[in-house]
Amino acid sequence: MNSITRLLGTKYPLIQGSLAHISTYPLVAAVSNAGGLGTLSSTGLNSKQLALQIQRVKELTNQPFAVNLTLLDANVETLVKIVIEQKVPIVITSAGTPKRFIPALKTAGIKTLAVIPNVKIAKKMESLGVDAVIAEGMESGGHIGQLTTMGLVPQVVAAVNIPVIAAGGIADARGVLAVQALGAQGIQVGTAFLVAEETPIAPEYKQAVITADDMATVVTGNGADAVRGIANGLTDRYFQMIADNAWPEELDKLTTGSLQRAIHGDVATGSLMAGQVAGMITKVEPAATIVKRLMNKVEA
Ligand SMILES: Cc1cc2nc3c(=O)[nH]c(=O)nc-3n(C[C@H](O)[C@H](O)[C@H](O)COP(=O)(O)O)c2cc1C
Repeated sequence: MNSITRLLGTKYPLIQGSLAHISTYPLVAAVSNAGGLGTLSSTGLNSKQLALQIQRVKELTNQPFAVNLTLLDANVETLVKIVIEQKVPIVITSAGTPKRFIPALKTAGIKTLAVIPNVKIAKKMESLGVDAVIAEGMESGGHIGQLTTMGLVPQVVAAVNIPVIAAGGIADARGVLAVQALGAQGIQVGTAFLVAEETPIAPEYKQAVITADDMATVVTGNGADAVRGIANGLTDRYFQMIADNAWPEELDKLTTGSLQRAIHGDVATGSLMAGQVAGMITKVEPAATIVKRLMNKVEA
């Protein structure tokens, strides 16, 4: 996994995946200080707020960190300016094409990694000049594609000549060894970090992840709108509305702002985004402990 640590400038080939509204500076700095790559979420932030988050990370660590840009966000252009101004070392893009931003990011010396759900998009990202792809399987929490990590990673590894990082379904050192065997040179982890001490989500959300079992998550929506989270009152209502042929606008009304509701502790009508490995998560721990557990076999 050496090419990834060289690329990222980290001790470990481990990325804490962006968690929308959740991976703020305390988590990011803690992961980077522990030898991984912390990733700031820029979702819902304006340029001033993003600049402040970046400055806070820099106050807490001198290690590399990343900013996630979700490319469909209306203000993404202004956020790109901020990451360049603030000399953020690494950008991780998702939900769209970074094509128009790659030249400016390259000129600024910023490494760019793209989250991808299939081989076609992986090849497209390689042709745009990204430094590595993050192949994310549908075991993941949050927005997902259609392929599993097991199916996706080896096919992406065979198709591109840039490093491949695996995401989705990795919660401990066994998962790290498994994706290494599939040809991945690094890992990205989301769900395991949701319950880190440093995340700003309500204890009720963390508890829902801790009590979840293997069958606890469901997927709502489809295509680009598919989201994996823990089944609850929100998802029950969603599936009932689908069965009743509800209008898309009514479904939007149900889901809009639902992740923020969960973050504030509303586990009944909030979206408890989490991956299938929620069933493996047993307690709230410092991010550094989670990093150590993920990496202990790699170090050996
Ligand atoms: C609550 C939550 C929010 C997420 N938000 C984002 C996001 O804003 N941008 C992104 O690229 N990925 C996002 N992800 C995906 C993670 O960065 C990561 O790729 C994924 O969680 C890995 O799979 P795992 O959940 O099995 O560890 C999110 C995941 C979760 C659980």
